[in-house]
Amino acid sequence: MVAEFAGLTEAESKLLSSTSSTDVSVLDRMVENVIGAFSLPLAVATNFRVNEKDYLVPMAIEEASVVAAASHAAKLARPGGGFHGSMSDPVMIGQVQLLDIADPDGATKRILAEERKLLELANSKDPLLHKVGGGAKKIEVRVLHTPRGPMVVVHLLVDVRDAMGANAVNTMVEAIAPELSRLSGGRSHLRILSNLAINRLAHVKAVFTKEVLASDDWSGEDVVEGVLDAWCMAAYDPFRCATHNKGVMNGISAVAIATGNDFRALEAGAHSYAAWKAGEGRVISPLTMFEKTPNGNLVGSIELPMAVGTIGGTTAVHPMAKLAMKILGVSGAGELGTIMAAVGLAQNFAALRALATEGIQKGHMTLHARNVAIMAGARPDQADRLAKVMVSERAIRIDRAKELLEKEHTS
Ligand code: MEV
Repeated sequence: MVAEFAGLTEAESKLLSSTSSTDVSVLDRMVENVIGAFSLPLAVATNFRVNEKDYLVPMAIEEASVVAAASHAAKLARPGGGFHGSMSDPVMIGQVQLLDIADPDGATKRILAEERKLLELANSKDPLLHKVGGGAKKIEVRVLHTPRGPMVVVHLLVDVRDAMGANAVNTMVEAIAPELSRLSGGRSHLRILSNLAINRLAHVKAVFTKEVLASDDWSGEDVVEGVLDAWCMAAYDPFRCATHNKGVMNGISAVAIATGNDFRALEAGAHSYAAWKAGEGRVISPLTMFEKTPNGNLVGSIELPMAVGTIGGTTAVHPMAKLAMKILGVSGAGELGTIMAAVGLAQNFAALRALATEGIQKGHMTLHARNVAIMAGARPDQADRLAKVMVSERAIRIDRAKELLEKEHTS
């Protein structure tokens, strides 16, 4: 029907059913109206040493240079000991919105007084999670004064252990909502997880020694100062900060996709955290921070929410995600989140270093030029040669690639 609707040729229809390393029946159980599979390159980032352990980090991403940049940054972090970090307890927030409340302060008091009962009710919905040390842990209440009147917003804090947690949390908030309505004297409206996971944070640090940052064209000191100036612009300019944080998420989302994690949730969490942390009067803050040590080395750090899981969801059903998890070899969500934060920091450091020195296009263009050569019809072995010429000429265009190819064929 789709082929008929869109006028697909026979070859195009065949392509739909032939592009997957994953059985379409598996995909068909994941979402609705499946007509095929969409492939992304799956790569591994190398050189990552996190908390004294070496990893090959699977990344699924379509953007050239990202994997190379992360791998290179991880290599530069190794002389300083690699990445060190941890994650806080995996506590997610579920929200219940309460409306038509005559006395918000009284409602708040009554809800808090029943905290223990409410937690028990929530935990009765997921006894297994409770048994392994997770489950609903705390109730918080906020009162919002809005143009549509006061709203009481209840937060249920749930330790979701190794799950991403959306299902567990959503089930729990739906379960306690009627009781919250009764206690508040109003009615419950929205009952849903918050992606601003301020209690589930990853913290990672790395030292990049000035010696390792030096190259033929740049002294280590220049690179350190250059990265500090680049970071500072992000800290003071929201227009730059958006791009700075986008670079961080290039790495994190690529690992999230490869491991079957919800990258939209991570993106939402990261960018809203960057806004939340910026504080009064500011729009957004960088997810990373760069400083200089007394002996002139560069220290990078990252802090952001990391709502990732190693059990359940796509991670457990998608064969490629399962494979990626095996390559990564992590034992739980805390380890996965720490690695992902390390990749985000590496990615950001690589971007700042490139931007502060030779510019971003040089490395990017070499890979891009190869793609342009392939698009012009070059075989992979020819593509490397053509790419080199086009980069040296600073003429990375399909017409130039075709000309060069023609020359190769006639010479
Ligand atoms: C491109 O995908 C990401 C960068 O723009 C990040 C940055 O500017 O920091 C290179």
